[in-house]
Amino acid sequence: MGSRFRGNDEGLKIMTEISALKAGLIADIAAAGTLDALEALRVGALGKSGVVTGLLKTLGGMSPDERMEKGPPIQDLRESVTAALADKKAALEQAALDAKLASEKVDMTLPADLGTQGSVHAVSQVMDELAEIFADLGFSVATGPEIEDDWHNFTALNIPETHPARAMHDTFYFPDEEGQKRMLLRTHTSPVQIRTMMNGTPPPIRIIAPGRVYRSDSDATHTPMFHQIEGLVIDKGITLGHLKWTLETFLKAFFEREDIVLRLRPSYFPFTEPSVEVDVGYTLTNGQRVIGGDGDAADGGWLEVLGSGMVNRRVIEACGLDPDEWQGFAFGTGVDRLAMLKYGMNDLRAFFDGDLRWLKHYGFSALDVPTLSGGVGA
Ligand code: PHE
Repeated sequence: MGSRFRGNDEGLKIMTEISALKAGLIADIAAAGTLDALEALRVGALGKSGVVTGLLKTLGGMSPDERMEKGPPIQDLRESVTAALADKKAALEQAALDAKLASEKVDMTLPADLGTQGSVHAVSQVMDELAEIFADLGFSVATGPEIEDDWHNFTALNIPETHPARAMHDTFYFPDEEGQKRMLLRTHTSPVQIRTMMNGTPPPIRIIAPGRVYRSDSDATHTPMFHQIEGLVIDKGITLGHLKWTLETFLKAFFEREDIVLRLRPSYFPFTEPSVEVDVGYTLTNGQRVIGGDGDAADGGWLEVLGSGMVNRRVIEACGLDPDEWQGFAFGTGVDRLAMLKYGMNDLRAFFDGDLRWLKHYGFSALDVPTLSGGVGA
Protein backbone atom coordinates (compact mmCIF):
# COMPACT_ATOMS: atom_id res chain seq x y z
CA MET A 1 0.00 0.00 0.00
CA GLY A 2 2.70 2.31 1.21
CA SER A 3 4.76 1.72 -1.85
CA ARG A 4 1.78 2.33 -4.10
CA PHE A 5 1.06 5.46 -2.18
CA ARG A 6 4.63 6.54 -2.42
CA GLY A 7 4.53 5.54 -6.05
CA ASN A 8 1.53 7.71 -6.66
CA ASP A 9 3.13 10.42 -4.74
CA GLU A 10 6.32 10.14 -6.73
CA GLY A 11 4.30 9.74 -9.93
CA LEU A 12 2.49 12.96 -9.22
CA LYS A 13 5.77 14.69 -8.61
CA ILE A 14 7.25 13.39 -11.86
CA MET A 15 4.11 14.45 -13.75
CA THR A 16 4.39 17.93 -12.29
CA GLU A 17 8.05 18.10 -13.13
CA ILE A 18 7.40 16.95 -16.69
CA SER A 19 4.60 19.41 -17.24
CA ALA A 20 6.74 22.20 -15.77
CA LEU A 21 9.60 21.15 -18.03
CA LYS A 22 7.22 21.09 -21.01
CA ALA A 23 5.84 24.53 -20.23
CA GLY A 24 9.35 25.90 -19.78
CA LEU A 25 10.67 24.41 -23.03
CA ILE A 26 7.64 25.54 -25.01
CA ALA A 27 7.94 29.05 -23.63
CA ASP A 28 11.67 29.12 -24.50
CA ILE A 29 10.92 27.88 -27.99
CA ALA A 30 8.25 30.52 -28.47
CA ALA A 31 10.68 33.19 -27.33
CA ALA A 32 13.54 32.10 -29.61
CA GLY A 33 14.44 35.03 -31.84
CA THR A 34 16.72 33.34 -34.33
CA LEU A 35 17.15 29.99 -36.02
CA ASP A 36 20.48 29.58 -34.17
CA ALA A 37 18.82 30.11 -30.79
CA LEU A 38 16.14 27.63 -31.75
CA GLU A 39 18.74 25.07 -32.76
CA ALA A 40 20.47 25.47 -29.41
CA LEU A 41 17.14 24.79 -27.69
CA ARG A 42 16.58 21.70 -29.82
CA VAL A 43 20.00 20.30 -28.94
CA GLY A 44 19.38 21.08 -25.27
CA ALA A 45 16.07 19.18 -25.32
CA LEU A 46 16.25 16.50 -27.98
CA GLY A 47 20.03 16.25 -28.68
CA LYS A 48 22.11 13.26 -27.55
CA SER A 49 22.42 14.57 -24.04
CA GLY A 50 19.31 16.74 -24.05
CA VAL A 51 16.85 16.77 -21.15
CA VAL A 52 14.03 15.09 -23.04
CA THR A 53 16.40 12.49 -24.46
CA GLY A 54 17.62 11.85 -20.89
CA LEU A 55 14.06 11.24 -19.72
CA LEU A 56 13.36 8.94 -22.65
CA LYS A 57 16.47 6.93 -21.77
CA THR A 58 15.12 6.30 -18.22
CA LEU A 59 12.16 4.44 -19.71
CA GLY A 60 14.39 1.47 -20.56
CA GLY A 61 15.31 0.90 -16.90
CA MET A 62 11.74 1.07 -15.56
CA SER A 63 9.44 -1.72 -14.50
CA PRO A 64 6.50 -2.25 -16.82
CA ASP A 65 4.20 -0.61 -14.25
CA GLU A 66 6.35 2.41 -13.88
CA ARG A 67 6.73 2.69 -17.61
CA MET A 68 2.96 2.51 -18.01
CA GLU A 69 2.70 5.43 -15.69
CA LYS A 70 5.59 7.65 -16.76
CA GLY A 71 5.87 6.63 -20.39
CA PRO A 72 2.90 8.61 -21.76
CA PRO A 73 3.79 12.00 -20.24
CA ILE A 74 7.42 11.62 -21.37
CA GLN A 75 6.34 10.69 -24.90
CA ASP A 76 3.89 13.58 -24.84
CA LEU A 77 6.72 15.87 -23.77
CA ARG A 78 8.86 14.69 -26.67
CA GLU A 79 6.05 15.11 -29.20
CA SER A 80 5.00 18.53 -27.95
CA VAL A 81 8.57 19.83 -27.94
CA THR A 82 9.23 18.39 -31.43
CA ALA A 83 6.05 20.00 -32.79
CA ALA A 84 6.79 23.35 -31.12
CA LEU A 85 10.33 23.33 -32.58
CA ALA A 86 9.01 22.59 -36.09
CA ASP A 87 6.35 25.31 -35.88
CA LYS A 88 8.80 27.87 -34.60
CA LYS A 89 11.36 26.92 -37.23
CA ALA A 90 8.82 27.43 -40.01
CA ALA A 91 7.77 30.77 -38.55
CA LEU A 92 11.36 32.00 -38.25
CA GLU A 93 12.16 30.92 -41.80
CA GLN A 94 9.09 32.70 -43.14
CA ALA A 95 10.04 35.84 -41.23
CA ALA A 96 13.57 35.68 -42.64
CA LEU A 97 12.18 35.35 -46.17
CA ASP A 98 9.78 38.26 -45.64
CA ALA A 99 12.60 40.43 -44.36
CA LYS A 100 14.78 39.50 -47.35
CA LEU A 101 11.99 40.29 -49.81
CA ALA A 102 11.29 43.59 -48.10
CA SER A 103 14.94 44.62 -48.17
CA GLU A 104 15.34 43.63 -51.82
CA LYS A 105 12.18 45.35 -53.05
CA VAL A 106 12.71 47.19 -56.36
CA ASP A 107 11.52 50.75 -56.26
CA MET A 108 9.68 51.10 -59.54
CA THR A 109 9.40 54.85 -59.13
CA LEU A 110 13.16 55.40 -59.40
CA PRO A 111 14.34 56.67 -62.80
CA ALA A 112 15.90 53.76 -64.67
CA ASP A 113 19.54 53.90 -65.70
CA LEU A 114 19.35 53.23 -69.40
CA GLY A 115 23.11 53.06 -69.82
CA THR A 116 24.44 53.87 -73.25
CA GLN A 117 21.69 53.46 -75.77
CA GLY A 118 22.10 53.49 -79.49
CA SER A 119 19.79 55.38 -81.75
CA VAL A 120 18.30 54.85 -85.17
CA HIS A 121 19.95 56.98 -87.85
CA ALA A 122 17.69 59.52 -89.53
CA VAL A 123 18.24 57.78 -92.90
CA SER A 124 17.10 54.42 -91.51
CA GLN A 125 14.15 56.09 -89.85
CA VAL A 126 13.06 57.82 -93.05
CA MET A 127 13.51 54.63 -95.10
CA ASP A 128 11.29 52.82 -92.60
CA GLU A 129 8.71 55.58 -92.83
CA LEU A 130 8.76 55.42 -96.63
CA ALA A 131 8.44 51.64 -96.64
CA GLU A 132 5.43 51.99 -94.33
CA ILE A 133 3.71 54.61 -96.43
CA PHE A 134 4.21 52.68 -99.65
CA ALA A 135 3.20 49.41 -98.02
CA ASP A 136 -0.16 51.07 -97.33
CA LEU A 137 -0.37 51.82 -101.05
CA GLY A 138 0.38 48.21 -102.01
CA PHE A 139 4.09 48.59 -102.84
CA SER A 140 6.67 46.04 -101.78
CA VAL A 141 10.37 46.68 -101.24
CA ALA A 142 12.85 45.58 -103.92
CA THR A 143 16.64 45.67 -103.81
CA GLY A 144 19.53 45.48 -106.24
CA PRO A 145 23.32 45.40 -106.07
CA GLU A 146 25.37 48.53 -105.34
CA ILE A 147 28.13 47.20 -107.60
CA GLU A 148 26.24 47.31 -110.85
CA ASP A 149 27.07 46.78 -114.49
CA ASP A 150 26.93 49.38 -117.17
CA TRP A 151 23.97 47.80 -118.90
CA HIS A 152 21.58 47.89 -115.89
CA ASN A 153 22.74 51.31 -114.68
CA PHE A 154 22.67 53.00 -118.10
CA THR A 155 22.00 51.11 -121.32
CA ALA A 156 18.74 49.41 -120.36
CA LEU A 157 17.57 52.75 -119.01
CA ASN A 158 17.90 54.24 -122.48
CA ILE A 159 21.23 55.91 -121.73
CA PRO A 160 23.50 54.67 -124.52
CA GLU A 161 27.29 54.80 -124.44
CA THR A 162 27.52 58.19 -126.11
CA HIS A 163 24.75 59.80 -124.09
CA PRO A 164 25.75 62.97 -122.21
CA ALA A 165 23.79 61.76 -119.18
CA ARG A 166 26.59 59.29 -118.50
CA ALA A 167 29.02 62.14 -117.99
CA MET A 168 26.46 63.97 -115.81
CA HIS A 169 26.42 61.14 -113.30
CA ASP A 170 30.11 61.42 -112.30
CA THR A 171 30.30 57.67 -112.15
CA PHE A 172 32.79 55.67 -110.09
CA TYR A 173 33.99 52.96 -112.47
CA PHE A 174 35.92 49.85 -111.53
CA PRO A 175 39.11 49.25 -113.52
CA ASP A 176 38.31 47.53 -116.79
CA GLU A 177 39.07 43.84 -116.87
CA GLU A 178 39.73 41.89 -120.04
CA GLY A 179 36.61 40.13 -121.21
CA GLN A 180 34.57 41.30 -118.22
CA LYS A 181 31.52 43.51 -118.10
CA ARG A 182 32.28 47.08 -117.16
CA MET A 183 31.37 47.44 -113.48
CA LEU A 184 30.54 50.60 -111.56
CA LEU A 185 29.00 51.82 -108.33
CA ARG A 186 25.38 52.45 -109.22
CA THR A 187 24.69 56.14 -109.68
CA HIS A 188 20.99 55.84 -108.93
CA THR A 189 18.43 53.27 -107.80
CA SER A 190 16.88 53.14 -111.29
CA PRO A 191 18.70 49.88 -112.24
CA VAL A 192 16.41 48.19 -109.69
CA GLN A 193 13.55 49.05 -112.10
CA ILE A 194 15.29 46.96 -114.76
CA ARG A 195 16.11 44.10 -112.39
CA THR A 196 12.53 44.00 -111.12
CA MET A 197 10.98 43.96 -114.59
CA MET A 198 13.40 41.23 -115.65
CA ASN A 199 13.23 38.98 -112.59
CA GLY A 200 10.58 36.80 -114.15
CA THR A 201 7.63 37.92 -112.04
CA PRO A 202 4.97 39.08 -114.46
CA PRO A 203 3.39 42.55 -114.02
CA PRO A 204 1.53 44.22 -112.40
CA ILE A 205 4.53 45.58 -110.51
CA ARG A 206 4.44 47.97 -107.59
CA ILE A 207 7.78 48.38 -105.86
CA ILE A 208 9.94 50.85 -104.07
CA ALA A 209 13.71 50.39 -103.95
CA PRO A 210 15.57 52.28 -101.23
CA GLY A 211 19.35 52.10 -101.12
CA ARG A 212 22.80 53.60 -101.42
CA VAL A 213 24.00 55.25 -104.59
CA TYR A 214 27.37 56.80 -105.50
CA ARG A 215 28.55 59.83 -107.42
CA SER A 216 31.89 61.56 -107.44
CA ASP A 217 30.63 64.75 -105.83
CA SER A 218 31.19 66.41 -102.46
CA ASP A 219 30.00 69.65 -100.84
CA ALA A 220 27.48 70.73 -98.17
CA THR A 221 24.60 69.18 -100.09
CA HIS A 222 26.42 66.34 -101.89
CA THR A 223 28.31 63.34 -100.53
CA PRO A 224 29.96 60.67 -102.71
CA MET A 225 27.57 58.13 -101.19
CA PHE A 226 23.96 59.03 -100.59
CA HIS A 227 20.56 57.36 -100.51
CA GLN A 228 17.76 57.26 -103.00
CA ILE A 229 14.41 55.62 -103.16
CA GLU A 230 13.02 54.48 -106.45
CA GLY A 231 9.38 53.81 -107.20
CA LEU A 232 8.04 51.75 -110.08
CA VAL A 233 4.52 50.85 -111.15
CA ILE A 234 3.88 48.72 -114.22
CA ASP A 235 0.30 47.82 -115.03
CA LYS A 236 -2.34 48.29 -117.69
CA GLY A 237 -3.73 51.74 -118.43
CA ILE A 238 -1.44 53.64 -116.07
CA THR A 239 -1.41 57.41 -116.61
CA LEU A 240 0.31 60.53 -115.34
CA GLY A 241 -2.78 61.01 -113.13
CA HIS A 242 -1.87 57.85 -111.17
CA LEU A 243 1.66 59.20 -110.76
CA LYS A 244 0.45 62.55 -109.48
CA TRP A 245 -2.01 61.01 -107.02
CA THR A 246 0.60 58.57 -105.71
CA LEU A 247 3.22 61.28 -105.18
CA GLU A 248 0.74 63.63 -103.54
CA THR A 249 -0.53 60.90 -101.21
CA PHE A 250 3.01 59.85 -100.31
CA LEU A 251 4.26 63.41 -99.69
CA LYS A 252 1.25 64.27 -97.51
CA ALA A 253 1.77 61.12 -95.44
CA PHE A 254 5.51 61.64 -95.22
CA PHE A 255 5.44 65.30 -94.18
CA GLU A 256 2.35 64.59 -92.06
CA ARG A 257 0.50 67.61 -93.46
CA GLU A 258 -2.56 67.94 -95.63
CA ASP A 259 -1.54 71.26 -97.17
CA ILE A 260 1.18 69.86 -99.44
CA VAL A 261 0.99 71.51 -102.84
CA LEU A 262 2.73 69.84 -105.79
CA ARG A 263 4.05 71.54 -108.90
CA LEU A 264 4.86 69.29 -111.84
CA ARG A 265 7.41 70.71 -114.26
CA PRO A 266 8.28 69.19 -117.63
CA SER A 267 11.76 67.74 -117.52
CA TYR A 268 13.97 65.17 -119.16
CA PHE A 269 15.18 61.75 -118.10
CA PRO A 270 16.17 59.23 -120.79
CA PHE A 271 14.17 56.48 -119.05
CA THR A 272 10.87 58.34 -118.68
CA GLU A 273 8.72 59.99 -121.34
CA PRO A 274 7.20 62.37 -120.57
CA SER A 275 9.37 63.29 -117.60
CA VAL A 276 8.32 65.55 -114.77
CA GLU A 277 10.19 67.15 -111.96
CA VAL A 278 8.13 67.58 -108.84
CA ASP A 279 8.37 70.59 -106.58
CA VAL A 280 6.59 71.08 -103.27
CA GLY A 281 5.56 74.39 -101.85
CA TYR A 282 7.20 75.65 -98.68
CA THR A 283 6.57 78.56 -96.37
CA LEU A 284 9.29 80.58 -94.73
CA THR A 285 8.81 80.33 -90.96
CA ASN A 286 11.43 82.11 -88.84
CA GLY A 287 13.80 81.98 -91.77
CA GLN A 288 13.35 78.19 -92.06
CA ARG A 289 11.80 76.51 -95.08
CA VAL A 290 8.86 74.52 -93.82
CA ILE A 291 7.24 72.16 -96.32
CA GLY A 292 3.58 72.97 -96.88
CA GLY A 293 1.46 75.60 -98.46
CA ASP A 294 1.36 77.15 -101.87
CA GLY A 295 4.89 77.94 -103.10
CA ASP A 296 3.58 80.97 -104.96
CA ALA A 297 2.44 82.65 -101.74
CA ALA A 298 4.28 85.83 -100.67
CA ASP A 299 6.11 84.02 -97.86
CA GLY A 300 6.78 80.85 -99.82
CA GLY A 301 8.67 79.15 -102.63
CA TRP A 302 9.11 75.84 -104.41
CA LEU A 303 11.57 73.08 -103.64
CA GLU A 304 12.40 70.31 -106.07
CA VAL A 305 11.94 66.96 -104.37
CA LEU A 306 11.53 64.30 -107.05
CA GLY A 307 12.33 63.18 -110.56
CA SER A 308 9.67 61.11 -112.23
CA GLY A 309 7.73 60.31 -115.36
CA MET A 310 6.02 57.65 -117.40
CA VAL A 311 8.36 54.72 -118.00
CA ASN A 312 9.84 55.12 -121.49
CA ARG A 313 8.52 52.39 -123.79
CA ARG A 314 12.12 51.66 -124.84
CA VAL A 315 12.86 50.69 -121.22
CA ILE A 316 9.79 48.44 -121.06
CA GLU A 317 10.93 46.85 -124.32
CA ALA A 318 14.52 46.40 -123.11
CA CYS A 319 13.10 44.41 -120.20
CA GLY A 320 11.26 42.09 -122.55
CA LEU A 321 7.74 43.42 -121.93
CA ASP A 322 5.31 44.67 -124.56
CA PRO A 323 4.95 48.44 -124.15
CA ASP A 324 1.58 48.38 -125.93
CA GLU A 325 0.29 46.12 -123.19
CA TRP A 326 2.13 47.49 -120.14
CA GLN A 327 2.63 51.07 -119.05
CA GLY A 328 3.79 52.60 -115.87
CA PHE A 329 5.43 55.38 -114.00
CA ALA A 330 8.66 55.70 -112.09
CA PHE A 331 10.08 58.17 -109.64
CA GLY A 332 13.28 58.68 -107.75
CA THR A 333 14.18 60.89 -104.85
CA GLY A 334 16.93 61.44 -102.29
CA VAL A 335 16.24 59.87 -98.91
CA ASP A 336 18.81 62.05 -97.14
CA ARG A 337 17.25 65.15 -98.64
CA LEU A 338 13.78 64.06 -97.50
CA ALA A 339 15.20 63.51 -94.00
CA MET A 340 16.79 66.97 -94.02
CA LEU A 341 13.55 68.62 -95.10
CA LYS A 342 11.38 66.76 -92.60
CA TYR A 343 13.67 66.83 -89.56
CA GLY A 344 15.45 70.15 -90.15
CA MET A 345 19.11 69.24 -90.67
CA ASN A 346 21.12 71.46 -92.97
CA ASP A 347 24.47 69.80 -93.59
CA LEU A 348 24.33 66.51 -95.46
CA ARG A 349 27.96 65.66 -94.67
CA ALA A 350 27.11 65.39 -90.95
CA PHE A 351 24.88 62.41 -91.82
CA PHE A 352 27.92 60.26 -92.50
CA ASP A 353 30.51 61.64 -90.05
CA GLY A 354 29.50 59.16 -87.36
CA ASP A 355 29.65 61.91 -84.71
CA LEU A 356 27.88 60.55 -81.63
CA ARG A 357 26.65 64.02 -80.67
CA TRP A 358 24.86 64.35 -84.01
CA LEU A 359 23.48 60.83 -83.77
CA LYS A 360 22.22 61.51 -80.26
CA HIS A 361 20.57 64.72 -81.31
CA TYR A 362 19.01 63.60 -84.59
CA GLY A 363 18.71 59.86 -83.93
CA PHE A 364 15.46 58.07 -83.19
CA SER A 365 14.65 55.64 -80.42
CA ALA A 366 15.03 52.04 -81.49
CA LEU A 367 11.94 51.26 -79.44
CA ASP A 368 9.66 53.50 -81.47
CA VAL A 369 8.26 51.99 -84.61
CA PRO A 370 8.04 54.61 -87.32
CA THR A 371 4.86 56.39 -86.49
CA LEU A 372 3.18 58.59 -89.00
CA SER A 373 0.38 60.30 -87.20
CA GLY A 374 -1.97 60.12 -90.14
CA GLY A 375 -0.82 57.08 -92.06
CA VAL A 376 -2.17 56.73 -95.57
CA GLY A 377 -5.85 56.96 -96.33
CA ALA A 378 -6.87 56.22 -92.73
N1 PHE B 1 17.24 58.22 -111.43
C1 PHE B 1 16.93 59.63 -111.47
C2 PHE B 1 18.05 60.38 -110.74
O1 PHE B 1 18.85 59.77 -110.09
C3 PHE B 1 15.63 59.92 -110.79
C4 PHE B 1 14.46 59.34 -111.50
C5 PHE B 1 14.00 58.09 -111.19
C6 PHE B 1 13.79 60.06 -112.49
C7 PHE B 1 12.89 57.55 -111.84
C8 PHE B 1 12.71 59.57 -113.15
C9 PHE B 1 12.27 58.29 -112.80
O2 PHE B 1 18.15 61.58 -110.85
